[in-house]
Formats: sequence, C-alpha cells, structure tokens
Amino acid sequence: MDYVTLGRTNLKVSVAGLGCGGHSRLGQSYGNTEAQSVAVVSAAIDMGVNFIDTAAAYGTEEIVGKAIRGKRDQVVLSTKIPVVPSGDNSLGDTLVAPSDFKRGVEASLKRLGTEAIDILHLHGVAPNQYAQCVQDHVPVLQELRAEGKIRFLGLTERFIVDPQHAMMMQALKDDYWDVIMAGFNMINQSARQRVLAATRDKNIGTLIMFAVRRALGNKDELRAVVRQLVAEGVVDASLLDLEDPLDFLVNSGDARSVIDAAYRYCRHEPGAHVTLTGTGRIPHLTENIASICGAQLSSTHIDRLTEIFGNVDSVSGN
Ligand SMILES: NC(=O)c1ccc[n+]([C@@H]2O[C@H](COP(=O)([O-])OP(=O)(O)OC[C@H]3O[C@@H](n4cnc5c(N)ncnc54)[C@H](OP(=O)(O)O)[C@@H]3O)[C@@H](O)[C@H]2O)c1
Repeated sequence: MDYVTLGRTNLKVSVAGLGCGGHSRLGQSYGNTEAQSVAVVSAAIDMGVNFIDTAAAYGTEEIVGKAIRGKRDQVVLSTKIPVVPSGDNSLGDTLVAPSDFKRGVEASLKRLGTEAIDILHLHGVAPNQYAQCVQDHVPVLQELRAEGKIRFLGLTERFIVDPQHAMMMQALKDDYWDVIMAGFNMINQSARQRVLAATRDKNIGTLIMFAVRRALGNKDELRAVVRQLVAEGVVDASLLDLEDPLDFLVNSGDARSVIDAAYRYCRHEPGAHVTLTGTGRIPHLTENIASICGAQLSSTHIDRLTEIFGNVDSVSGN
C-alpha cells in the first residue's frame, strides 16, 4: 500500500480508501450478512487500507464500528451527517436544525464505537443548500471540534445532480474545509479544473468518489452514457468505438480491465489523495487495491481520454 499526507490535516492515509456506501454498501445492498460486511472492512485493513469512509445514511457505521474494535488507532475514520431531515427531499431548501444535526453526530459516534471522528462531512450538499449550511451547520462542526468529538471538517458534493461541481466551487472560496470529497472519473474530468486546482492551492485533503460507479463497471451502461454524450454534442463519435468505447485501454495491454483503468486514472490525478473504492466482495477489493496501487495509464491514453471526454460535465457515471 502507498500512503500520502491528506493535505492540511497531516494525517497519513492510504491512497486506496474503503467506501462503505455507494451501490454496494459493503454488500448490504445485495444480501451480505453483517459478518460478511465486517470481513470486507477487516480485509481492507489487513491489506493496508487505513482510510474508511461511511455515513449515517449508509447503514454501515455499526459494521465499521465492529470491524475496527481494538484497532481504532490504525484507521482514519470519515463519516457524514445529512443536512436535510430524513424523509425530506434531499434537494430541498429546508435543512436539518443545528440541534438535530449535533444529535446525529452523537449517534454516529455511538454506532462507530469511538470517542472522536477524524473527518466529519456535511453529506451531499446541493448548490442551493450551501449558504444555509455555512450559517447553521458550520458553527456546530466548530463546536464539535472544540469538544474533541471531531478532528477535521469535511464536505461532500451531490455529484449525480451537480456533476458541474457548482456547490463545491462555492465552498472552495471559503476556508472552512479541511477535507472534501468530489466526483471525478475518466468520463467526467471537470473536477480537475473546477475542484482540484483549488484544493491543491489551499492544501485541502481530497477524496475521490465515482471512480467506477455503474458506467465504468458495466459495458451496457457505458455504451448508453457515451451515446447520450454524443447526442448532446460533447463527445465526438469519430474519436471512439461506440460499441466498445473504452476497450482501447484493454486491447492495447495498458489495463487489465476498464475498472482497473478507472481506479488507476483517479489515483494518479494530481491533487487526488485518496481514491475510494466501494465493494462488498473481498476478491473485488483485492483487485481494486492492486489497481489503485498500480502505475498510471500511458500518457498516450491519458491524452486520448482528455481529447474524448475533456468537455463533459453533464454526467456523473452513476
Ligand atoms: N455524496 C457523497 O458523499 C457520496 C456519494 C457517493 C459515494 N460516496 C462515497 O464514495 C465511495 C465510493 O463510491 P462507490 O461505492 O459508488 O464506488 P466505486 O468504487 O466507484 O463503484 C463501486 C461499484 O462497482 C462495483 N465494483 C467494485 N469493484 C469491482 C470489480 N473489481 N469488478 C466489478 N465490479 C466492481 C461495486 O459492486 P460490488 O460490491 O459487486 O463489488 C459497486 O457497485 C462510497 O462507498 C462512499 O463511501 C459518497
């Protein structure tokens, strides 16, 4: 495993981070038992992963708590609290009251079985919600930090509905955030200019989500997304094979699979500290860690991916 410094936090973190949400939620989405999901987290730690990302909304905090029992000092724990009341429209303007938000953090601490959370994020903030979050929730985060219950302030974007990073671009003008989580992948590279340029400048710890998701893990999904982008006029159809859009990465021998290429692509992006991988299967985890610790794709392929997808900011690859 390779380790890097997570920006201004000075935490030493593995370049591969275990994401306990996404479509898998450690396999809880498709029937893993709790013990199987605990085993995925334990396997990650055994393979040198020390960055674990979960959230109140994922239903995996207790699983993480069980897996890290007796090993708390070996891991950097990242979790998130929603800014909208549960059951409300997640894009709505009515946000969770500061007192309820604080109670949410206390509940996460209990589920995780820890005295302090290393990075506490506002979860999936939409562009219309950010200003209110600064007014209502940032003071609570600062209070929690003063009480020693959280160590660093984090913020994640709602990439599926905000693939242009409108919220994060507002947030990066402020100086509250020690760590942020942004969507970035081979198809939507727009975070390079809009997010990573600023996080590098401000030395903000940067976590990458959506490296694979659905579009880069499934050929039919990829074909559909690429056709949509061609129809929108942002991808030039003459630059790729519409049937197998990214097979050139594999056929050339550069990558073992599109998924392998997808994780390596993110890991080597300047400014990306931790590339998250979400899975409920230990064989996938093993492969993905090998990818994230592997070499960058060839510069010819990096340039070709920029040429093909460099104008895309309308899809997340979800
Ligand atoms: N706004 C937010 O705050 C936000 C939003 C989204 C995600 N996140 C965080 O980012 C993390 C990463 O996102 P993600 O979980 O969507 O991650 P991802 O790594 O981009 O994609 C994971 C998906 O790919 C599959 N997969 C993984 N490895 C595979 C392999 N080797 N072969 C075939 N399929 C494979 C997984 O299913 P299997 O279980 O079958 O492997 C899962 O469906 C999340 O877990 C979460 O912690 C945060």
